[in-house]
Amino acid sequence: MRKNKIIAIDGPAGSGKSTTAKLVAKRLGFTYLDTGALYRALTLLALRNRIDLEAEGELVNLLKNSEFQLQTHSDQSRIWINGEEATGAIRSPEVSRSVSIVARHPAVRREMVQLQRRLASQADVVVEGRDIGTVVFPDADLKIFLTASLDARAQRRLKELREKGIDIALDELKVDIQRRDQIDSQRETAPLKKADDAIEIDTTRLTIEQQVDRILQAFRAVVQKQDENPRIRPG
Ligand code: DC
Repeated sequence: MRKNKIIAIDGPAGSGKSTTAKLVAKRLGFTYLDTGALYRALTLLALRNRIDLEAEGELVNLLKNSEFQLQTHSDQSRIWINGEEATGAIRSPEVSRSVSIVARHPAVRREMVQLQRRLASQADVVVEGRDIGTVVFPDADLKIFLTASLDARAQRRLKELREKGIDIALDELKVDIQRRDQIDSQRETAPLKKADDAIEIDTTRLTIEQQVDRILQAFRAVVQKQDENPRIRPG
């Protein structure tokens, strides 16, 4: 039986997943795992190595032969690819535009799921992504699905990118986000979709604190139920 606790947070781009997941992890003393960062890291490597983004086998080889290290300290999460820091590089508009193409390949996803399960096996974790509650951890202790209007999501991404010194027009961002949502939710393997037993939270009009509080409340309820009836513990 699995001993560690898993909170799965899924949702489309800009729905507030990262900020929320990081804060939930911090409040609970859990590890934070950003699975999107792994797909981005592979995409960055493929672009740098001029690998055709449709060449599924080559992408899988690249993934198998690469080492990704993730680290989160207070609110900052960082990533190293084969020992080289790539925290900023994986957020570039070029990677953002290409990552959905890489993430569409079933064999890439299979390998990523194994990697994510390994990375999340050591400690209590908050895992964020698109298919965490449906595919990676269908037995998660708590599943959250975050949504928000396209406008709110684009505004959030704009602010995030501006803070990092990346300048992009709002309309361009909206088009990018819509395109990514479409590919992510229509792909055949593990599409972006709410798990039947996930709690959906529309964050359009919520503050980050409110989102975090709702999730913590839901988690406390789950733990209390598990304590009352240990047999319902998943895993
Ligand atoms: O969360 P993000 O925007 O950094 O994710 C980047 C892309 O990675 C996203 O467009 C879809 C893909 N992704 C995925 O397919 N499955 C996941 N579990 C996480 C991300």
